[in-house]
Amino acid sequence: MKKPIKRHDALKPLSREHHHGLLLCWKIRQGFKFNVEPQRMKDYTQWFKINYLDPHFEAEEKFIFPVLGEEHDLIKRALAEHRRLKRLFNQDNEVEKALHQIEEELDLHIRFEERVLFNEIQKVATSGQLAEIEEHHEGIHFSDDNWKDQFWIS
Ligand SMILES: [Fe+2]
Ligand SMILES: [Fe+2]
Repeated sequence: MKKPIKRHDALKPLSREHHHGLLLCWKIRQGFKFNVEPQRMKDYTQWFKINYLDPHFEAEEKFIFPVLGEEHDLIKRALAEHRRLKRLFNQDNEVEKALHQIEEELDLHIRFEERVLFNEIQKVATSGQLAEIEEHHEGIHFSDDNWKDQFWIS
């Protein structure tokens, strides 16, 4: 079995945010399982996007991606996926289809970053760059305990 690569401290806050992204995908799957009306899920994904996804993408684009540079194939892929995901989260027609796509594509994007991109970043980043990441991104504190409609709980 392949030994998992240890996540560098500087990237741990972003990895924790990924955990909440994967939970969002799980919540959407639960919603479909319980036949929740798509608009209720859409309200939640919209709130999640504004409070957690947008700042997460911003932090990655500002502090993480420059380590490899915009011309790097892995960064081109990551940026294209950010654009695509933002479009899906903002989509107001065919909401049900968009939710299915978010569930699938956000999950894949996070797994790509965790298994491929972040490993490459921590391999090539200088200690100065890692220190800078650590200094600028402490992580976004996540809580949806007070969200009005916990549709993922049956
Ligand atoms: Fe990302
Ligand atoms: Fe990410």
